[in-house]
Amino acid sequence: MSNDPLLQPYKLKHLTLRNRIIVTSHEPAYPEDGMPKERYLAYTLERAKGGVAMTMTAGSAAVSKDSPPVFNNLLAYKDEIVPWIKQMTDAVHEEGAAIMIQLTHLGRRTRWDKGDWLPVVAPSHHREASHRAFPKKIEDWDIERIIKDFADAAERMKAGGMDGVELEAYGHLLEQFTSPLTNELDGPYGGSLDNRMRFCMDVLKAIRSRVGEDFILGVRYTADECLPGGTGKSEGLEISKRLKESGLIDYLNVIRGHIDTDAGLTDVIPIQGMANAPHLDFAGEIRAATNFPTFHAAKIPDVATARHAIASGKVDMIGMTRAHMTDPHIVRKIIEKREDEIRPCVGANYCLDRIYQGGAAYCIHNPATGRELTMPHLVAKAETRKKIVVVGAGPAGLEAARVAGERGHEVVVFEAASGPGGQIRLTARSPRRKEMMSIIDWRMAQCEKHGVGFQFNTWAEAETIEAENPDVVIIATGGVAHTDVLSKGNEFVVSSWDIISGDVKPGTNVLIYDDAGDHAALQAAEFLASAGAKVEIMTPDRSFSPEVMAMNLVPYMRSLQKLDVLFTVTYRLESVEKDGNQLIAHVGSDYGGVSKQRVVDQVVVNHGTIPLDDIYFELKPKSTNHGEISHDELITGQPQSVVRNAQGQFQLFRIGDAVSARNTHAAIYDALRLAKDI
Ligand SMILES: Cc1cc2nc3c(=O)[nH]c(=O)nc-3n(C[C@H](O)[C@H](O)[C@H](O)COP(=O)(O)O)c2cc1C
Ligand code: SF4
Repeated sequence: MSNDPLLQPYKLKHLTLRNRIIVTSHEPAYPEDGMPKERYLAYTLERAKGGVAMTMTAGSAAVSKDSPPVFNNLLAYKDEIVPWIKQMTDAVHEEGAAIMIQLTHLGRRTRWDKGDWLPVVAPSHHREASHRAFPKKIEDWDIERIIKDFADAAERMKAGGMDGVELEAYGHLLEQFTSPLTNELDGPYGGSLDNRMRFCMDVLKAIRSRVGEDFILGVRYTADECLPGGTGKSEGLEISKRLKESGLIDYLNVIRGHIDTDAGLTDVIPIQGMANAPHLDFAGEIRAATNFPTFHAAKIPDVATARHAIASGKVDMIGMTRAHMTDPHIVRKIIEKREDEIRPCVGANYCLDRIYQGGAAYCIHNPATGRELTMPHLVAKAETRKKIVVVGAGPAGLEAARVAGERGHEVVVFEAASGPGGQIRLTARSPRRKEMMSIIDWRMAQCEKHGVGFQFNTWAEAETIEAENPDVVIIATGGVAHTDVLSKGNEFVVSSWDIISGDVKPGTNVLIYDDAGDHAALQAAEFLASAGAKVEIMTPDRSFSPEVMAMNLVPYMRSLQKLDVLFTVTYRLESVEKDGNQLIAHVGSDYGGVSKQRVVDQVVVNHGTIPLDDIYFELKPKSTNHGEISHDELITGQPQSVVRNAQGQFQLFRIGDAVSARNTHAAIYDALRLAKDI
């Protein structure tokens, strides 16, 4: 038996958990019709197979119809969910993991124009900044109805074979009652702490009386809202003690902070560049004060930090939730002493930001997550060993090389630069985003393990590639910054990449014209403003930086607002002319009838990339498929069989930004889904 603290079993009431690592509740927005169907099952099961002790599924499954599924939540208020839950719990139990589900009523943290278009309810009329719904002030009959809804939903989950349910209190209806900031009720449910906690206690009592004792019940709650006038630390401690002393629950799952704004949410679930384990000591204080089973998750991205959390006795079970979205097989790798092979979570929060934009959660650098029905986490060996040449060692090229290497092919990668990374190297030049380099480092380590050869400082010509006598050539050369977008004066502008790379000296009075809406404009702004420049970011879009998304925007705003960067929306830069040492920027609008000027000394254009594709077009006539990819074969997971030129010497494919400017996830997904079938 291992003496690794993380691998010690834990007894939670009648349940023996096989180790100390859990996946905390999270809604990846995979439900279909509000049900956890095959895709949900496959996702959940992969983590159970990977060895996690307990997977807590369904963040925020809705118990009532007036808790509309704002991020495609599971609908726990429907009886038809029971067989779907049963299918999932049976499969997870079969793998030796425990499984719980999180239930909630979102209260004001949702929108009325979702689901059944019912008014949103809360214990006050105050709206939540993030979701914007003005709530109806909850009435006595709403309270009675929702308490019953919680008990009904818990009963369904027990019938579905769940080991227990967790109540999502923080930021949702339960804590909208507890927090003095959001509860303006009089009488039994408003006023004193006793009254503000009454709703939570009534819900717990109703559930416990329905599900009996042999069913785990826990609460995920904030023990310090970190907001003036909100639940502070001392009240949070008192709440923790009262929850324990109620005798109704079996563990506490501690959160610190508030989630009603993008900034608050980002402090609760920190992204890259923010400290690891920021609330672990706080969770430890709660455990010490209550001496009660305590769970916690908040940016514990690596095994060493998780091990410390358990070994130091700060918590009983440690959550590694996003870490398991990046690598579902963490525990197995710990057991097999292959920790160094764990694909690292880089805190990009692409996963979370997507669900708040109405999409499904995808991991920035593991495209198999959430696509378990079609994409492998473990790549199978190929039947025939082929010679594969990859051109470009950015994320797309490295993923293609990794996958091809893992399939047992002979792989060589040509890269013009002196090292791997492509655009990620530029991204990682912002100190806050340097965790992104792990996307590259992990792939390089995997490539080394699979014997992939690299030739850096090599500008691959057609002859270089042909000399390798390849069966397959994959072009992953990426793109170059595209600034040629003005009607006049393109020669006077520089690109955001020029600024980020340091190739161009920052100006003093700078206009950044951003119609790509991605990270590069904000990164350039930060470099410029930090160097002392006065910066304006202008976009023709309705809002700025639409591709950056909510939580990723937070650290930028924290920095750029302090640096007094100005944001101007709905204006289009049309042309630039030189006037002595200055540049005159002529500005119009898609809405018409406007003509303005800006006088600056530097104009930076951020307009994505254009493909670097010369080598592709040079090789195209020599290939068997003329570069064609069958979309049907790609999507259905078949080897590529297009032949347009039987005399060709090799198959030729193009992936990532060498095709068109997209993002890191798209580049890596292009590579995985092509290379897994070569
Ligand atoms: C896609 C996604 C959805 C989430 N949804 C929920 C949720 O519905 N309820 C909840 O309590 N936490 C939710 N979380 C938060 C996680 O449970 C966890 O607290 C958070 O990711 C921090 O832990 P980590 O750093 O180990 O990922 C979500 C997280 C992710 C990534
Ligand atoms: S998208 Fe980023 S934060 Fe989310 S799981 Fe992947 S690496 Fe981690």
